[in-house]
Amino acid sequence: MTWRKWLLWLIAVAIIMTLSACTSRSGGSAGGAAGGSGTVNPSARLAKRNAAKVEQSAPEPDQDRIVIGVYADLTGDNSTFGEETRNGVTLAVEEVNRAGGVLGKQVVVRFEDTRSDPQQARNVVTKLIQQERVLAVIGEVASTMSLAGGPICQQYGVPMISPSSTNPAVTDQGNYIFRVCFTDPFQSYVMAKFLAEHLKVKRVAILYDNSSDYSKGLAEFFQESFRKMGGEITDVLSYKPQDTDFRSQLTTIRAKNPDAIYIPGYYKSVGLIARQARELGIKVPLAGGDGWSSPKLVEGAGGPGKAIEGCYFSDHYAPDDPAPQIQEFVKKYRQRFGQTPGGLAALAYDAARVLFAAIEKAGKLDRAAIRNAIANTRNFPGVTGVITINEFGDADKSAVVLQVRGNRFVFVTRITPETATTAASARQVK
Ligand code: PHE
Repeated sequence: MTWRKWLLWLIAVAIIMTLSACTSRSGGSAGGAAGGSGTVNPSARLAKRNAAKVEQSAPEPDQDRIVIGVYADLTGDNSTFGEETRNGVTLAVEEVNRAGGVLGKQVVVRFEDTRSDPQQARNVVTKLIQQERVLAVIGEVASTMSLAGGPICQQYGVPMISPSSTNPAVTDQGNYIFRVCFTDPFQSYVMAKFLAEHLKVKRVAILYDNSSDYSKGLAEFFQESFRKMGGEITDVLSYKPQDTDFRSQLTTIRAKNPDAIYIPGYYKSVGLIARQARELGIKVPLAGGDGWSSPKLVEGAGGPGKAIEGCYFSDHYAPDDPAPQIQEFVKKYRQRFGQTPGGLAALAYDAARVLFAAIEKAGKLDRAAIRNAIANTRNFPGVTGVITINEFGDADKSAVVLQVRGNRFVFVTRITPETATTAASARQVK
């Protein structure tokens, strides 16, 4: 081949590659399975995770005590997420300090507020690392915030454990990033299965939050699972978190008369959506994911027994589960904070304890050694289940379906990855 032919051939290949990349990206109706970062097949996830490097050294951590950073929304739109996370971490820290600390050293926590703003998340994570010289970071709750803070932890080689961010892309950012919860392909599978098999629902409309990686991912993963189960998706519509009027989307949805509406958003918008749906005469069950899990959900939906009564969402644990580790935790938390702990409190408690165990195992306050110890977490007995960190940096765990009854979230069923017929596809999405 002459060099001219070579060049033409190369250009042709480049064009074909670009075209196919475009088609696969626009294939997802909810804007990118992993929250804007393209497809999420397992090998691509691992390649991305393992390619990220530590680029800069972080200031040396304090050696006399263990300083941990926590970043969460403490005052913004999702502030109950931050409050529960702070309480869960606080409980774990107080307990471990009472018992003599970790490696004989006391644990100190620095809490920072993200206000659910990605730029603020980046700023506070940088501050925790550069000024507070934290040994490790716990946070964030919302996937979009963890996607903002995660790259900074990775870049500095500071281990980060998200208690509760479920979008797959969170841990793909690098091998210093972990989570102690399941991911959204599984969580949406759980709700699809529950609707299809338990409620015998055939036709579902979806209304998701366009600005949240979490919500976009769930909308997309749910469609895939529900269609595979033979279900029909009547509409896929979106909103923004600052919206307060959802009547136009709900009117469109109502016209096709679906059997249920899947609303994978956060509690504040979900409460309003539920109220307006009922005002418009929509009576079918509403369903969602862990973003519903807030003591403010019912209040936002008009109070107990009103718009969201009887609706269902997937979550990480059920406070009414009689398992001894759960009841012990619920009791301790109630004594300390006067409230029933939701999934977030339990996950934050677990994240902190997984971190303490890893520091203990590492035997020194060295971030790389602690990273390795977190990665090697096996069969850790958490409140939210047994935690084993897999090669993706995630925990394979079961999920529960809860029903809103009055002011309570009541256990309905538990679905485990092992019993899931598409267990593999729970991780492998495309
Ligand atoms: N999973 C949600 C996310 O990734 C956060 C969340 C977890 C909210 C648990 C409530 C309870 O954005």
